[in-house]
Amino acid sequence: MGIRSKLKLLIEKVLRVGLKEEFDSLRQEIQERHQPQIERLDEISQSLKPRFSSEPGGSYQEFWDDMAATREGACYGVAGLPFGLPATEESLDLHGEPTARVIIESLGITADHSVLEVGVGVGRLARHIAPHCREFYGVDVSSRMLGFARERLKDLSNVHLQQLTTNDLRIFPEGRFDRVFFQIVLVHLDREDAFNYLRESYRVIKKGGKGYFQFYNLLHKKGFREFLNSVSLSTTSGEKPRGRVHCYSAPEVRKLMEEAGFTLDEANSHLEMVEQRFDYHFPEGYWDDYLQRVRTVLRNSGLDEKNQNAYSDKIKKGIIYSAPDSDWEYYLIAVGDKT
Ligand SMILES: C[S@@+](CC[C@H](N)C(=O)[O-])C[C@H]1O[C@@H](n2cnc3c(N)ncnc32)[C@H](O)[C@@H]1O
Repeated sequence: MGIRSKLKLLIEKVLRVGLKEEFDSLRQEIQERHQPQIERLDEISQSLKPRFSSEPGGSYQEFWDDMAATREGACYGVAGLPFGLPATEESLDLHGEPTARVIIESLGITADHSVLEVGVGVGRLARHIAPHCREFYGVDVSSRMLGFARERLKDLSNVHLQQLTTNDLRIFPEGRFDRVFFQIVLVHLDREDAFNYLRESYRVIKKGGKGYFQFYNLLHKKGFREFLNSVSLSTTSGEKPRGRVHCYSAPEVRKLMEEAGFTLDEANSHLEMVEQRFDYHFPEGYWDDYLQRVRTVLRNSGLDEKNQNAYSDKIKKGIIYSAPDSDWEYYLIAVGDKT
C-alpha cells in the first residue's frame, strides 16, 4: 500500500472515531435528559405485563380442572352424564357408545389405525373407540379429567393418555396419526385456538389420513340457544369464562377447514346452513333400547318411582334432552382429508 492510501485510511479512521465519540456523547446527553421519562415508561410496561401475559377469563386448564373437582362434575362436564343422573358407567355409556359409533363410521377407523382424541375428558368415547384401533392416544389440558380417564381405561392396554401444557399438538411429530378427532372440545375454545388446533391436526395426520371436528351451528335454534347462554353469563355476571361455548356457521367451518389444509369429505361431513337434519340412522330399536337403559339408570339412581317416571316422561317428550350428544341436529361436523 502506498503512502497516500495509508494516509487516507488513517484520516478516515480518525474521522470515524471522532464521529462515534460525538454520537456517544449525544446519546448520553439525551439519555440523561430523558432518564425520568425512560424510567416511567419502564414502570408502565412492567405494570402492563401481567395484564398481557395472564389469560383473561382464566386458563382452559383452570376451567376444566374446576369442573372435574369431583367425579360427578367431570362426568357432567363431558356431556356423558344425562342431567340429574348419577355418574355411573351406564350413564356415560348412554351417549358415549352411540357417539363413538358415529365417529368410528365417519372416520372409517380400522384395527390398524393410530387414533388421537384431543380433549379426551374421562375417556367416555375412548372406552368404545380404543378396542377398534391399533393404538389410541388421548390428550387433555385437565390433569383431573385425565385422572378419571386413567382409572376408567386402565384395562385397555392400547390407550395412552397425556396432558397438554400448551394449546397445540407440539408433543407429536408431523404425520404421527391416521385419525384425529375432537368431540365437544373446539366449541369450548376461543376461535383462534380452535383454528390453531385444526392446523395442528392437519400437521399430525398422515398423508391419506382423516380428521373429525365437531362444532355447534349458530344458525340453528338450539345452537343459538347455546350462544344466548354464553351471552347471559356475560351480561348477568360479567364473566367470560375461558371454556364458554362458541358457535359457528357452516361456511365459517368450511373456510377454517380449508385454510387449515383439509379437503372436506362431503359424504361424512354435516355442514348444512340451518335447521339441518342429522341423518345418521341409529339401528332399529335403538331409541327403545336407549329409553330402557335410561330407566335402568333411573332405577339405580335413588330417585323415588314417581320422580323416575316424571324424568323418563320428560326425556320421551323431548322436554329434557338428556345431554348434548343425544341431540345431534345442531351439530356441524367437518370431516377432512389430508390428501
Ligand atoms: C366437553 S368435554 C368432552 C370430552 C370428550 N371429548 C367427550 O366427548 O367425552 C371437553 C374436554 O376438552 C378438554 N379441553 C378443554 N380445553 C382444551 C384445550 N385447550 N386443549 C385440550 N383439551 C381441552 C377438557 O378438559 C375436557 O376434558
